[in-house]
Amino acid sequence: MALSRNDFEYVRELLRTECAIVLEPGKEYLVESRLCPLAQRLGLGTLDALIAKLRREPVNGVHRQVIDAMTTNETLFFRDLHPFETLKKTIVPELLQRRAPARTLRIWCGACSTGQEPYSIALLLRDNFPQLFGWRLQLLATDLCRDVLERARTGRYNQLEMNRGLPASMLVKHFAKVSADQWQLREEVRSMVEFQEMNLARAFPPMPSFDLVFLRNVMIYFDTETKRAILARIRRVLAPDGYLFLGCAETTLNLDDSYETVTLGKTMCYRQKAATAGAQTF
Ligand SMILES: C[S@@+](CC[C@H](N)C(=O)[O-])C[C@H]1O[C@@H](n2cnc3c(N)ncnc32)[C@H](O)[C@@H]1O
Repeated sequence: MALSRNDFEYVRELLRTECAIVLEPGKEYLVESRLCPLAQRLGLGTLDALIAKLRREPVNGVHRQVIDAMTTNETLFFRDLHPFETLKKTIVPELLQRRAPARTLRIWCGACSTGQEPYSIALLLRDNFPQLFGWRLQLLATDLCRDVLERARTGRYNQLEMNRGLPASMLVKHFAKVSADQWQLREEVRSMVEFQEMNLARAFPPMPSFDLVFLRNVMIYFDTETKRAILARIRRVLAPDGYLFLGCAETTLNLDDSYETVTLGKTMCYRQKAATAGAQTF
């Protein structure tokens, strides 16, 4: 049965208030294709019955499952490649020099999905910067969606996912085949990444200062006001000389002029302008 206008509005409002995701009008097909299977799995039969249940009850685990089902978790290893080349050639060598006195490096992936992005960073560091052994390396990876975090922690990927962006040499060196179609990242790399649930649309929990923040391919789902609020909160956790990476279709321009664009090779990333670095904006 087709989704009624009222039910579509209900789901839109739920997403907007709980996680700031904007569902454009005309996306009824997306709600149907993602929530009908969930209604079946929950034994509710139809989408109508699922939405009636959501309306009846205060926000709880079922609402969470709906939100998880509505998130887009597309990701791949070494996505867009150039940011990772720039990390390797320019940014990490520079940070190794600047952070040598404290021997500490902190990196945060703020919408990590099933883990390919933080694991790409971990693999890059492990294979190219043996000097980091003995340093305190924190690689925090967060996401709103519990399902993807659970998958990310296992470090297990199917053949199709392995074929997307992962160099063959890294597959051979760092993954073990655990079944006909499944590979698992070895424990020594998995343990470099700490996964946590975090909603970017809410006040951030207490966090240390990060040298690198990856917030790629998630701001596209938010409205302007939410993007501005998130960029302001990031300023509080980005080291004054740290770098922010956004997705190719995302920018700080016209949103927050306390960031400046830095072009390094084929990569565009962002830093805080000297005058605003460290300023507290709530
Ligand atoms: C398209 S994936 C991007 C994954 C990875 N950063 C990349 O570029 O390949 C977007 C991720 O953002 C997460 N997300 C959406 N809204 C969020 C929110 N309010 N807080 C935290 N994560 C959110 C989704 O669960 C999803 O895993």
